[in-house]
Amino acid sequence: MPILVQHHQFHLQTDHTSYILQVMENGELGQLYYGRRIHDRTSYPDLTAREEHGAIPAWRLNRPDFQPETLKQEFASLGKGDYRDPAFQITSPDGSRISEFHYVAYQLETGKQRLAGLPSTFATDDDVQTLTLMLNDTVSQLTLALQYTVFPHQDVIVRSASFTNTGQQTLMLNRAMSSQLDLPDANYDFMQFSGSWARERHLVRSPLHSGTQRIGSLRGASSHQQNPAMILARSTTDEDHGSAFGFNLIYSGNFLDQVEVDAFGTARILIGINPEEFGWQLTPGEQFQTPEAVLSYTDAGLNQLSQQMGEFYQRHLVNPHFAQAPRPVLINNWEGTYFNFDEAKLTAIASDAKKLGIEMFVLDDGWFGHRDDDTTSLGDWDVYAQKLPNGIAHLAAKIHGMALKFGLWFEPEMISIDSDLYRAHPEWTVKTPHREMTPGRNQFVIDMANPAVVDYLYGKISRLIEDAHLDYIKWDMNRNITEAYSPTLPASQQLEFAHRYMLGVYQLYGRLTTDYPDVLFESCASGGGRFDLGMMAYAPQAWTSDDTDAVERLKIQFGTSYGYPQTMMGAHVSAVPNDQTGRITPIETRAAVAYFGDLGYELDVTKCSTAEKAAIKTQVAFYKAHRELFQQGKFYRLDSPFAGDGNVGSWQVVSADGQHAIAARYQVLNHPNPAYNRLYLRGLQADQRYRIAGNDHVYYGDELMNAGVFIPHLQDSTEGIEESFDFSARLLVIDAVEK
Ligand code: DGJ
Repeated sequence: MPILVQHHQFHLQTDHTSYILQVMENGELGQLYYGRRIHDRTSYPDLTAREEHGAIPAWRLNRPDFQPETLKQEFASLGKGDYRDPAFQITSPDGSRISEFHYVAYQLETGKQRLAGLPSTFATDDDVQTLTLMLNDTVSQLTLALQYTVFPHQDVIVRSASFTNTGQQTLMLNRAMSSQLDLPDANYDFMQFSGSWARERHLVRSPLHSGTQRIGSLRGASSHQQNPAMILARSTTDEDHGSAFGFNLIYSGNFLDQVEVDAFGTARILIGINPEEFGWQLTPGEQFQTPEAVLSYTDAGLNQLSQQMGEFYQRHLVNPHFAQAPRPVLINNWEGTYFNFDEAKLTAIASDAKKLGIEMFVLDDGWFGHRDDDTTSLGDWDVYAQKLPNGIAHLAAKIHGMALKFGLWFEPEMISIDSDLYRAHPEWTVKTPHREMTPGRNQFVIDMANPAVVDYLYGKISRLIEDAHLDYIKWDMNRNITEAYSPTLPASQQLEFAHRYMLGVYQLYGRLTTDYPDVLFESCASGGGRFDLGMMAYAPQAWTSDDTDAVERLKIQFGTSYGYPQTMMGAHVSAVPNDQTGRITPIETRAAVAYFGDLGYELDVTKCSTAEKAAIKTQVAFYKAHRELFQQGKFYRLDSPFAGDGNVGSWQVVSADGQHAIAARYQVLNHPNPAYNRLYLRGLQADQRYRIAGNDHVYYGDELMNAGVFIPHLQDSTEGIEESFDFSARLLVIDAVEK
């Protein structure tokens, strides 16, 4: 079994990693080790050894050598001599802020239960085991349960904490992180995925240094700017070699990922709900459960880390109904029409799309209330009769009649001042009393912490699912929260708002996905503003970015792939000049980038030339022929667009059996007289012989991976250049040769 217990020592083992903790002499929990799997022993004297630092640190147990500041702690408290940032902080009614949790007991169970009310992992497998450590603070009468689930084959450990007030007094929980890890040294690079709207999840890699490095969000959403996925890698670690820890949080709201490097050169990693703008009143008997944090380790490089974490999400987080299911090739009307459409226009697009092999039509923003621009109608989820006089169900029936699936856009969490909903329920808008409301994209946020709002939205959305037999819902969210406050909460609980808002979102998602299990949800927040594991638990795919430019997408999808599998990434081909950058790229390149995700088209196909339509038809057929490989294959990053001048990027997918692979190499600008180039493939079987489509040679796998494939320079003739080879893509379709 993966969890070994002896003498108050707990050894969590996966196929390749060990995580070891123990009950320390003072009854608190100490950390011993996390990394490559090591043998189990009754004790690890060397892992408890540490320097004594003279008289400066505080000491406990009447023993000058027991200095909390120098100990690796499992879930550190505040104010008892460990001056690093703590994992939790509690205030008692007398204003004191000290608490001390001592170990009481442990419990082991097979499998993994889901958390109530929060998106969470699950497992019924016999080899998955969950350890719960029970701790107690006798003064405040609070119990703490630390939960660890070990998923041996993906080398993943999932952690969370829950606090229960067993006393008679109300306590305040001011900080409740999901996970703490104290590493014995800080010789790591901090890899974060940062950006902005239309420029999400660009890789930023910087060495840890003394002090605190942190990323987080206080926007009420995980955000475009920072993502909860974080990696700590040795400076020599690259895609194929070296040690790296991966971290993520199954949460979509305000978060914090922090690494603190202390005076002794150790690194404390804290992950969880951002303690800023957070507080939870724990009344007698009440429990607070943190979201789950995901931890993983490998010594085989960053591709391996992303693959094992991605496989873990697919098996233990994504709705099993959709995890392996082929995702439909869709056409979305947003960039094709924006708000300007009617039934004839939409059905014309759908009909042409059907002829090109597309499988689903998605009606985006503008179908409800009286919405002709972004200033009105959010909240009024009834058809805009002037545009669609026959209603949504009628349109859906027409689309279904073309043998296409039908999907619809919603932005449930928003309200416009110009809406019947606002006129009826102004109190449902998020706002602070006596303060001006701050608009964002001409709209306001609806109070998801109010159960009546959740019920209203459930009623509206479920009616449309049933009336129009929706196959898919795009759930958008186009602004972040300001003036956070809910009139449904008393003053003493206003700091609960941000988390209660997320619980309301999750409740709505949970009700809809449970009651309508066949509806595929795609999450979206102005593109990738809420691209996180919390959303992924309900919506197996997400709109990666509003930026559909092929060159920009290269970095966005490459950066996103560190933390998330490609099957989560919605990727569309749009028209040129591109609406976000004005860039004109070949339709082949746009498709060659979008293939490595859930392919869609987002243009007015009725305006495409015959040649463009022919290209789309070929692309859709090609994608469908290789869909499983594109969506579910092992994803390898080959050449990083974040390296050097960023002119080249490449990646590859390989089937589970290693028999099929597709690699793509993208070049931004075509330079004359360029350097000699080879593409080194990955993940093939060394002794297997392969063919590359369009090439007569037969290669061994080891040859393709170690000697690589020559990539010739693009030029059309010696007479002079007649067409641009900027923004090019080369696809290599690689298949094993039958023995
Ligand atoms: C932002 C989304 O990311 C777009 O795809 C589109 O749905 C618009 N919102 C609609 O308002």
